Amino acid sequence: MVVRKAVLPVAGMGTRFLPATKATPKEMLPIVDRPVIQYVVEEAVAAGLSDVLFVTGRAKRALEDHFDYNGELEKMLQERNDLEKLSAVRGPAQLAQIHYARQGTPAGLGHAVLCAKAHVGDETFAVLLGDEIIPAENNVLQQMFSVLATHGGSVLLLKRVPKTEISRYGVAAVKPTTDENIVEITDLVEKPDPADAPSDLAVLGRYVLNPAIFGILENTKPGKGGEIQLTDALKVLANSTDPKVGKVHGLIYEGERFDTGEIFGYMTTVVELATRRSDIGTEFKSWLTNFVKGF
Ligand code: UTP
Repeated sequence: MVVRKAVLPVAGMGTRFLPATKATPKEMLPIVDRPVIQYVVEEAVAAGLSDVLFVTGRAKRALEDHFDYNGELEKMLQERNDLEKLSAVRGPAQLAQIHYARQGTPAGLGHAVLCAKAHVGDETFAVLLGDEIIPAENNVLQQMFSVLATHGGSVLLLKRVPKTEISRYGVAAVKPTTDENIVEITDLVEKPDPADAPSDLAVLGRYVLNPAIFGILENTKPGKGGEIQLTDALKVLANSTDPKVGKVHGLIYEGERFDTGEIFGYMTTVVELATRRSDIGTEFKSWLTNFVKGF
């Protein structure tokens, strides 16, 4: 089974970044000189997902423009013979076949995924949260597709997190499989109190989902925070006994991820990725070392 379509929900309110996100989606905030969402699209494309659907909401214009051509700017760079910048400007428009669906009101992540139903149709698809960067070279999606090839059904990405952080995530109850990095998911709880968490395995922002999720989402009532929660629908998916729907497995991932969806995570991502740049990295690290000495 080949997964072709990626769904990227980018319609949230981004309230943690106000006022920056008043007129710009938080997924468009820059990490040095590229918006967060470009890293996510590049990861999807590197995994063979050439069909990308953004689920957008208000303030979507900047994002649409970023993944489109800009004739005026391109002409100016061409005239200056600045081919490097020209290629950087054209790059996002050439990455993938980009499509848009509109989420009228930000009624929750589950509701945003449901907005992709008409575009996805009856095929297994990937969801990538637009505010979470996972380095493309870690091949996380490819590893999830190989779990799908073995087990069928749906695949989530899990990470072990300390108890003190568990209430920030959806958390999975699991059964082991013969592979220590793969578990079968039996239940999920959204943002539990540490005492109620069924494990230390948090759900990250990459999902490979059977299209049965759409029918489930249509019947999912608003949950935590009054939002239609993807976690609530995934819980129903995990308990399905329909062989066509299959089970939900989790791939345990120990590698790097950058959560740019909240201010502290965003700031550390900017600093970390800036230190790795081939252009400014060395100079930035040296400045940073001196700056820290001043504390
Ligand atoms: P978040 O909960 O992190 O985003 O959703 P948010 O709601 O924009 O953030 P705050 O809490 O107000 O600061 C995770 C991802 O799901 C998308 C967001 O855009 C983000 O990429 N999302 C969330 C939607 O597309 N629609 C929604 O209704 C909710």
